[in-house]
Amino acid sequence: MKQSNVNDILVNNSNKEMSDMQTKNQVEDPIIQESLLTCIDLANTDLHQSALLLKKACLDSGFFYVINHGISKDVMDNAFEQSKKFFALPLEEKMKVLKNEKHRGYTPLYDQIPDPENQVQGDHKEGYYIGSEVPRDDPQWDRPFYGPNPWPNPDVLPGWRETMEKYHQEALRVCKAIAKLLALSLDLDADYFDSPEMLGKPISTLRLLHYEGKSDPSKGIYGTGAHSDYGMITLLATDGVMGLQICKDRNAKVQKWEYVPSIEGAIVVNIGDMMERWSNGIFRSTLHRVILNGQTRYSIPFFVEPNHDCIIECLPTCQSDNNLPKYPPIKCSAYLTQRYEESHLKFSSYKKQT
Ligand code: OGA
Ligand code: NI
Repeated sequence: MKQSNVNDILVNNSNKEMSDMQTKNQVEDPIIQESLLTCIDLANTDLHQSALLLKKACLDSGFFYVINHGISKDVMDNAFEQSKKFFALPLEEKMKVLKNEKHRGYTPLYDQIPDPENQVQGDHKEGYYIGSEVPRDDPQWDRPFYGPNPWPNPDVLPGWRETMEKYHQEALRVCKAIAKLLALSLDLDADYFDSPEMLGKPISTLRLLHYEGKSDPSKGIYGTGAHSDYGMITLLATDGVMGLQICKDRNAKVQKWEYVPSIEGAIVVNIGDMMERWSNGIFRSTLHRVILNGQTRYSIPFFVEPNHDCIIECLPTCQSDNNLPKYPPIKCSAYLTQRYEESHLKFSSYKKQT
């Protein structure tokens, strides 16, 4: 894994762009520093100590690192290797596994536009969504976000499916360990989230991403536009090339963005909007984006959302007479469907474009 030089990127955000930036809807500070995030050791047997650390991180930004997560270097390296092989295929081959109505499969360049007010075109990235495999003989297979995955032809990419299934399984295990700490940090039983009703049949999605090009915020060009994640927890593994930025205060008059550096062996974790809703806005689902410096970049986010029919409503420990629930209860799959539709091209419009 190579670590990029921050200075390469900082040069691209020099003062000369400041005047252009003012033309955007959102004004931002041109000086971008590195964020110092909390690091949680998942091998620490003192869960209460880890939960305290986690609570601090979630009140501050909802972004942190985990170490000793148990995903071996081999499993991680294989996932990146196989991801690179997929994206290196001719477009015609990738289009054979184009994203379907269940939000699984290949998403071409510009498919997603999370911040249309500040983006002139979609994200400069291509991707591949892999959901939890729910076979056709499962009574729930036809629910939104459940079902079988499309897979690239095994003659073209031998071992690809197995590699991704292995990573998927390991990432889910890590998310369940984090879910225990989250529960403790919210004064709930450790198994509150890691229960059959909540994470028994989660909507968990592995996404492979491949970025190319150079971002130019002054012109509305981004690797990934500013957004917060929709779900409960996201694990983010990257190839070490810098690019991820967070903005802790989305309402600031002048937005301050900070780089999140990659740390060898650590995984970046952030909590998403569902967790913010559950915690009545106490825990932060922070705005983030990807700024490219011209280097090719690969990343693997893994999004965990609870069961399809789980209701996301204010947790008992996050409300009182003086602090009433701020968000109405909502069913997990309904919320996700709405968020995906807002930010992605419609499935039917691919055919017209290509
Ligand atoms: C995302 C995301 C960041 C990255 O996919 O939601 O924020 O570094 N990705 O690719
Ligand atoms: Ni994100």
